[in-house]
Amino acid sequence: MCGIVGMLGQNEVAPILLESLRRLEYRGYDSAGIATLRDGKLQRRRAVGKLSELSDLLVRNPIQGLSGIGHTRWATHGPATLENSHPHQSRSVAVVHNGIVENHLELRAQLSALQIEHKTETDTESITLLCQYHLEQGLAHAEAALKTVRSLRGAFALAFLFEGEEDCLIVARQGSPLVIGHGQSETYVTSDSIALTGLTDRITYLQDGDFACLSRRKISIFNCGGEEVSRPLERRNIDSASTDKGGHKHFMSKEIYEQPKILAAAIERYETSGGMAELRPAVEMVSSCRRLELVGCGTAHFACQVAGYWFEWLAGIPVSTTVASEFSCRKQAFDEQTLGIFVSQSGETADTLSALRHMKNAGCGTLSLLNVTSSTMARESDVSLPIHAGVEIGVASTKAFTCQLLALANLVLAVAERRRYADQDRISRLRKEFRRLPALTSAALAADDGIKSIAGELGKFVSVLFIGRGAMYPLALEGALKLKEISYIHAEGLASGELKHGTLALVDDKMPVVVLAPQDQLYAKSLSSSEEVKARRGKIILVSDTTGPTGIWRTVPLPSVDPVFAPILYAIPMQLLAYHTAVHLGTDVDQPRNLAKSVTVE
Ligand code: F6R
Repeated sequence: MCGIVGMLGQNEVAPILLESLRRLEYRGYDSAGIATLRDGKLQRRRAVGKLSELSDLLVRNPIQGLSGIGHTRWATHGPATLENSHPHQSRSVAVVHNGIVENHLELRAQLSALQIEHKTETDTESITLLCQYHLEQGLAHAEAALKTVRSLRGAFALAFLFEGEEDCLIVARQGSPLVIGHGQSETYVTSDSIALTGLTDRITYLQDGDFACLSRRKISIFNCGGEEVSRPLERRNIDSASTDKGGHKHFMSKEIYEQPKILAAAIERYETSGGMAELRPAVEMVSSCRRLELVGCGTAHFACQVAGYWFEWLAGIPVSTTVASEFSCRKQAFDEQTLGIFVSQSGETADTLSALRHMKNAGCGTLSLLNVTSSTMARESDVSLPIHAGVEIGVASTKAFTCQLLALANLVLAVAERRRYADQDRISRLRKEFRRLPALTSAALAADDGIKSIAGELGKFVSVLFIGRGAMYPLALEGALKLKEISYIHAEGLASGELKHGTLALVDDKMPVVVLAPQDQLYAKSLSSSEEVKARRGKIILVSDTTGPTGIWRTVPLPSVDPVFAPILYAIPMQLLAYHTAVHLGTDVDQPRNLAKSVTVE
């Protein structure tokens, strides 16, 4: 999604803005731009495509100034063209915007009635034109911006830069994140504090409805009621190691390889008194509810689906899982004894946030599992648990997925101990196996070379199926999603048993089928599904802790693990297969086309 940066500095801001935009690249974008003030005059450079285009443009045609704003745009209203790129500018104001203005058609009509015409298809242009109109009506800068902001509906984070106002940035937040950074004698604003790495670690999170006037020495924040408020100043240790590739070619590869270490550190944390105290309120909530509703999007949704099996198997709690974007479409059958569990890496995903608010309004308890613990979901949930994945930059989620599963497993085990639903010896054995997961994950990474050679062949096919049964079914969905999003090969994940109900018609010698089949009580049934594939000359890639029958095209050997935790281990080959296929095909692995890391629009 779009990324915003803004700066009132002491040195030339263009190179700093560009560097900060680089740190926001992970959010996904298709054009970028910056605007600065030089001798009070607005200057602007924009380019379609990657930041390298903008940076080349700035070399050919530099801009100067100590105050500026910058933006990476992920197209929503209007294609990725130069005219639609941000900053948008009218005569004396430049604006960058993240989010969607829902009433932009209304605003367009109102402006048109005033003979003010738009030149682009974007919703952002209406903001710029409206602010310019208010300025021309004689309002001061802050009032013009405030009046503009008050007439917007939807989700937005905004920064305004005004001609002639070298020491002023006006910013506003409604729904989309916005963070102020406090320098020595500089002031920054950004969508994500990661953009401030190396600039400042002193930050203030704006809250929904906040409007702020920034200068180099003073920051005034007003809430949605117009009262001046103080928001806490926090220290965020932004470790630059977490924002570089650490010797890997891509962030995704670094993040895949980090998993054993990160899972080990998370388990260590769970076992400290602090970790246990963190978990206690969540265990209370889950243990006392009658039903669970697990909600997330994409990969986070698949983590919910895996956990759904775990809660039912080990804690005896009935579960529904719903993909967040469909949540409001269901006629909900929940009551106040249903607990909503929301899983999200970013904690900002608009669909998940909207589902959370919906359940909260219905009087249900809300528990979230998040990687970004300063996010909106963390603030709005009754209780939130950190997943301890560290900064994840690759758009395709890898370590956040395994950490979500780990955190959910930790919760399920604690609830199982409390409710004593399952045999407690079995739960103790699972606890021991839980501690082995980092070592097992490390052993799973040993399959990397074999997977690389399979990936070299997979790139020749147009479509790939992934099948799994039980808790491996969501892993089949995850394997297919990973492959699609970064290699652009069509892939479909399905429950093994469903193959014969339609999709088997697609299987012939041009169809690789990834069969996720740990040797558990479902193994025999998984083999029957692969026999169905074999009989149609489908190319089976067996991912298993056993060699399987004859006639298998390729095998990915994994260590044995208790079947309950197999989804955590089997995530590794799914990630590696997608990664190597994408590298082989030469796609943009860390920033796949059309995708954004943090999806802040519904
Ligand atoms: C896929 C992926 C996405 C996210 C989804 C939810 O690799 O990363 O499917 O899982 O957009 O994002 P969060 O977890 O931030 O809510």
